[in-house]
Amino acid sequence: MPVDVLVGLQWGDEGKGKIVDVLAPTYDAVARFQGGPNAGHTLTFDGMKHVLRQVPSGIFHPHILNVVGNGVVLDPVVFREELQKLTDRGVDWSKNLYISKKAQLILPSHRALDRINEEARGNTKIGSTLKGIGPTYSDKIGRVGLRVGNILLPDFQERYKEAVAQHVSIAAPYNKKLEIEEFEEEFFSAIEFLRTLQLTDTEYLLNDLLSQGKRILAEGAQGSLLDIDFGTYPYVTSSSTISAGACTGLGISPRHIDKVYGITKAYCTRVGSGPFPTELEDEVGEELRKAGREFGAVTGRPRRCGWIDLPALRYAIMLNGVTELHLMKADVLDGFAEIQACTHYRTATGESTTRLPDPGELQTVTPEYQAIPGWHTDLTQVTEAAQFPQELSDYLNFLEKELQVPIRIVSVGPDRVSTILR
Ligand code: GDP
Ligand code: IMO
Ligand code: MG
Repeated sequence: MPVDVLVGLQWGDEGKGKIVDVLAPTYDAVARFQGGPNAGHTLTFDGMKHVLRQVPSGIFHPHILNVVGNGVVLDPVVFREELQKLTDRGVDWSKNLYISKKAQLILPSHRALDRINEEARGNTKIGSTLKGIGPTYSDKIGRVGLRVGNILLPDFQERYKEAVAQHVSIAAPYNKKLEIEEFEEEFFSAIEFLRTLQLTDTEYLLNDLLSQGKRILAEGAQGSLLDIDFGTYPYVTSSSTISAGACTGLGISPRHIDKVYGITKAYCTRVGSGPFPTELEDEVGEELRKAGREFGAVTGRPRRCGWIDLPALRYAIMLNGVTELHLMKADVLDGFAEIQACTHYRTATGESTTRLPDPGELQTVTPEYQAIPGWHTDLTQVTEAAQFPQELSDYLNFLEKELQVPIRIVSVGPDRVSTILR
């Protein structure tokens, strides 16, 4: 079964990009299956940092195919910028990058609607990245979206105009103008550029690879707690971020899926609004933010920080069918004398639960913690698991026992090489 899926188990930014880049050499293709430029996947190697938004994180390996799947919402302007940046850095993506003709296009008017929707929500704002994700997926489900393949049709301009006219009518009751005129020129020039790329039916491409016995790594964006069905709704993104999304987002049958890699930080972060039981709004949270450089890769917003949340992780592991865990940013906890892990919640009515209640109720639970002794070691200097301090080994064993999944990778720094296999 040659498809493995990699997903974030928290609220995104777990370090998915780094691990995809590390694992990519053992695959023939890396394929993104959902999300869009709301993602920011950071890769660091050879003293350089790269942030990818829509380009799959296998792009630095020239012999690996990189596929933008049908489940993705693609902003052509951002995509062109990303690819230009890669070209400037000497990366040749011209032969190994494929884009699904069935991926949805993000239009300037989708971005405008995202902003209008968010403003209209008053004090229940999602904290969206405002990249047009929600409105584009709404149009997809509403069967009025434009797909990448449409840009090859002679009537693309008319289809575009129809879509914008509809967006204008959506905005009208809010007394808002879309104000997209200034963005249309760059949009159409990015469409011209997109036409020159390898646009294809990537479901055939991927299934042909599978019939040749090739291996595919499906790259998730966002995190399980941002999933449209199972996340902290409505404070979620608009796609299926869990492993099942890889099937519909790539056109791959579930029977091809083998491993599911679950990526989690050794603590927890969230950008945007919504419940976050273990959030620390004190100096400890500030310390985590500082040590972990927890500022968004896309918007630069400070990330909310807190302790690791085991009920939430157990839920995500269940939904995804995680077969192995990768514990990221362990080094960020180096300076802490003591770490906390939330083992269960106390509900507003005083009951103890290890299950994730409904999002509304999740706002009201009190996390109950187990204290873990810190390791007082500079993990960034560690090169193999045998060098782990006893306290870290104890923490890993504790997590494995609580979560019932083996931790196969411990990440101790942003660089590719700071990746310890167990
Ligand atoms: P993604 O969206 O899941 O790919 O994650 P992001 O790239 O948005 O955020 C992860 C951040 O943590 C990036 O700045 C990475 O360079 C950084 N990072 C990844 N792994 C580690 C690690 O083990 N230690 C430290 N200190 N930073 C890491
Ligand atoms: P990666 O792939 C962290 C969050 C936003 C907001 C909510 C909805 O880098 O892990 P949207 O723009 O999708 O309408 O925003 O989801 N969000 C992310 N948070 N990492 C991401 O991606 C995210 N993509 C969206 O902050 O709360
Ligand atoms: Mg990110």
